[in-house]
Amino acid sequence: MPKQIDIFYSLPEVWDFCLEKIYNKKRYLAGLIGLFNHYNITNRSLILDAGCGSGFPSIDLVKKGYRIVATDKSSEMVRQIRLNAKKENVSIEAYNIMWSDLANRFEGVFDFGYCRGNSLVYAASWEQNWIVPQRSREEIYKAIYNFYKVLKPGGKMYVDITNKDEKPYQKNIGMVNTKQGLVKIDWQLSHDIKSMIRTWTITLNFLKTGKESKYSSYSYLLPHGELLDFFTKAGFKRIDKYVKVKGEGNYNVFVAHK
Ligand SMILES: C[S@@+](CC[C@H](N)C(=O)[O-])C[C@H]1O[C@@H](n2cnc3c(N)ncnc32)[C@H](O)[C@@H]1O
Repeated sequence: MPKQIDIFYSLPEVWDFCLEKIYNKKRYLAGLIGLFNHYNITNRSLILDAGCGSGFPSIDLVKKGYRIVATDKSSEMVRQIRLNAKKENVSIEAYNIMWSDLANRFEGVFDFGYCRGNSLVYAASWEQNWIVPQRSREEIYKAIYNFYKVLKPGGKMYVDITNKDEKPYQKNIGMVNTKQGLVKIDWQLSHDIKSMIRTWTITLNFLKTGKESKYSSYSYLLPHGELLDFFTKAGFKRIDKYVKVKGEGNYNVFVAHK
């Protein structure tokens, strides 16, 4: 009998599985392009993806002719966006840069930026099995300050964060078909209000083998008022709050104007 080999997936691969389940990608892409049109962002504009992850939606935007610079602090994520772009035959400009270093690399060059997929709240905790909430707050502010610096005057920054009405929950987000057969994906979200920590645990259940893999990520439960204060302190002049983007049903969107 052939020996059963254990299967391991990296967090970028697991995030890719989740994206398939929590977004209608086509609908979101159309929603984002609708927002670009609203803010006069065109194929000539220079756009920053701050925290590009595995490449959603930047790879699709490049396919549509948009000029995107993708950045992420995780070398694993940068590897994944490059792999995904290659699979799609797309050439992507992707760099391994932390938000707090963005202004050292770019200054006043972008017409628009987006930091999406509830990324900002992981500023000091992504791919770590610990979090220090005060460190997260510092790093979130540094990120926003850097977003401000890399935009042109009049430039706009799209940031989404945890929905203000989110309650802790546990749910099955669906199944994905992998090389190892069907995998069921469960999500658990818990809030520690005292410490302001949100814990998100993804469990992969491999139906063929009965094996289970767990991935826990910790983020700062950033109050929306605090986010608005950070934008103002960094210099942003106007903030559009709870912006409706077709296809974005997971997180709350803010657009800050320099
Ligand atoms: C939940 S994923 C979202 C990825 C992508 N934006 C999307 O929508 O699929 C969060 C991403 O933020 C990145 N990130 C977290 N903290 C960061 C920091 N301080 N600087 C740059 N990237 C960061 C992570 O590496 C990760 O790729």
